[in-house]
Formats: sequence, structure tokens, C-alpha cells
Amino acid sequence: MDCFHCSKSAVIEVQHGALCKTHFINYFEEKVLKTINKYRLIGRKDILCVATSGGKDSLTVLYLTKKYCERNNIPTKNIRALAIDEGIAEYREKTIIDLQKFCSDHQIPLEIVSFETELGKTLDQAYPIINKGTQKKPCNVCGVWRRYLLNKYAAKSGATKVITGHNLDDEAQVIMMNIFKANTQLAGRMGPISGIEESEHFIQRVKPLYFCLEKEVRLYALLKGFQVQFTECPYSKEGFRHHVQEMLNDFEQKYKGTKQGIINSFLALLPNIREQEKGRIDEIKQCSRCGEAANKEVCNACVMKEMIING
Ligand code: FES
Ligand code: ZN
Ligand code: ZN
Repeated sequence: MDCFHCSKSAVIEVQHGALCKTHFINYFEEKVLKTINKYRLIGRKDILCVATSGGKDSLTVLYLTKKYCERNNIPTKNIRALAIDEGIAEYREKTIIDLQKFCSDHQIPLEIVSFETELGKTLDQAYPIINKGTQKKPCNVCGVWRRYLLNKYAAKSGATKVITGHNLDDEAQVIMMNIFKANTQLAGRMGPISGIEESEHFIQRVKPLYFCLEKEVRLYALLKGFQVQFTECPYSKEGFRHHVQEMLNDFEQKYKGTKQGIINSFLALLPNIREQEKGRIDEIKQCSRCGEAANKEVCNACVMKEMIING
């Protein structure tokens, strides 16, 4: 198969035709930079905290955030990377090595915060304790603490935006999960830019890779020669999300464009969902124990921390 634009051999087939390496890289970067522009994900005065893990999505978003700033004369000293080390043996330590190298190669300051020092236990140690009392899966525990530490340390560094590497596959999965669980309140917070206005306790999250399929991000990272492990978290197969992911991959294979269709439908409905959920979405409280953002009296991170202390 030849590239749609030139006679070189194609590396991927996208919606509008096949592309060679050069034209794919160009297409991918333009798509991300256009998303940032269209949804105003990055402003001139923003202090940017890029949530990174060292995986393909986070390295790609970090690289393109810097590229966007350079192209638009936004000072790159306003970019910093923040990694949360959950403490997942044989997995996270490897991706963090890749991340450290990437950040030093690209001169981006990196801060690493771990579950162990912040919450007293690694995810591997904490999960069995919490699971005993609540049946919660590792991803539930991981998700709560990751979001908590991300928000806390982004705020500490003075960030006005948190940039995440969520791609189109991730978003399509969460949209379906929210539908399956009738969770319209959470749905209203989604989209390329989080529905919660910047507040003292919650920093807005933005997703420049929103319109990029996971396979496109993978190929981009590969073609750019990023040193990255293409492995998955060992817990990823245990969650509800994994089943939704498999279902969507199966549908996508049989009916090309399914994932994009989910995103397009969701974005068309989002203004209505936000309107409907307005009063509730904007109501961000402060946890009475730790003072961080919470949607109830005591935040979930504090509740889980207590479970661990009480063993
Ligand atoms: Fe790693 Fe859920 S804990 S994917
Ligand atoms: Zn070409
Ligand atoms: Zn709390």
C-alpha cells in the first residue's frame, strides 16, 4: 500500500487513506496541535504540569506540549513533568527510568511522588488490605490515589493546567463505562478539557491526545524512536475497564470508526449533559481531613488511607 500523499510505502491506514512515515508523523502532530488550539487547552500564561508515567502516551504528550509551546513562543520553562510512582513491582520502576532519561534529554524538570512515601504503602502492599474490606480492584485504589497526588502536587508547583496523555481509546472506554453505570455526573466532567472550572482546590485537566487512537500514539512513539516500554500494568486485566476495552477493540475491528463514533456522539451531547449536571459538577468541596478537593466531607484518598492504618 502506498501513501495517499506520495509514492512511499505506507505505515498506517487512517480515516482518509494510507500514510508513509513522514506524512503520518505530520498528520499526527497537526492533529494534536490543532486540538490544543481548538479547545484552548494551553494559554500563554499557563503553568503546565504534565502528568507522566514514562509510557508512550505520556512521553508523546510531553514532547508535543513542548513543541506546541516552542511553535507559539510560549516559554518552555513553564512546563514541568510530574510522575506518580504507585509501587507496582516489575513495571513502574522500568517506565520511570525511561521517563527520567526523556526528561533529561529534553530538559524538562521532573518531580516523582510515590504512594509509599505519601500514603505509607505501595499499591502492591495497600491493595490486598483495601480489597479485604471493600472488594475494590487495584485500579480503583490506584485511580483514587493517583488523582489525589496529581492534584495535590500540581497545585504545590503552582500549575494552572494538568496535561494528561489520555487518548481516544481511553476516553471511549470511560464514556461507555459511565453509560453502563449510568454515571452522568462523571460524564459531564469529561471531554478534551475537564468540566470543572479552575478552582482553588481543583486544577483543570486537559487532554491534547483526545482525538488520537491508541494505535496511532503507539506508532508515533515508535517512529520517533522514544525509549519506551510497550508493556501494560500487570493489574490492568483485573478491572471492569479491561472488558470494555476488549469489547471496543472487537467492535473496531469489525466496524471501523466505532471508537471515533463514540467520541463524536459524546461531544455532541456534552453541552446538554453539562447543563443538566451544572449545579453538581461545579460543587467542589474541601476534604475535612487533608484539605484537598473532594466531592464529600472526607475524600476517598483519606478513607482508603485510614483502612490501611487500621489494617
Ligand atoms: Fe494499573 Fe489499574 S492499577 S491499570
Ligand atoms: Zn507520504
Ligand atoms: Zn482527604
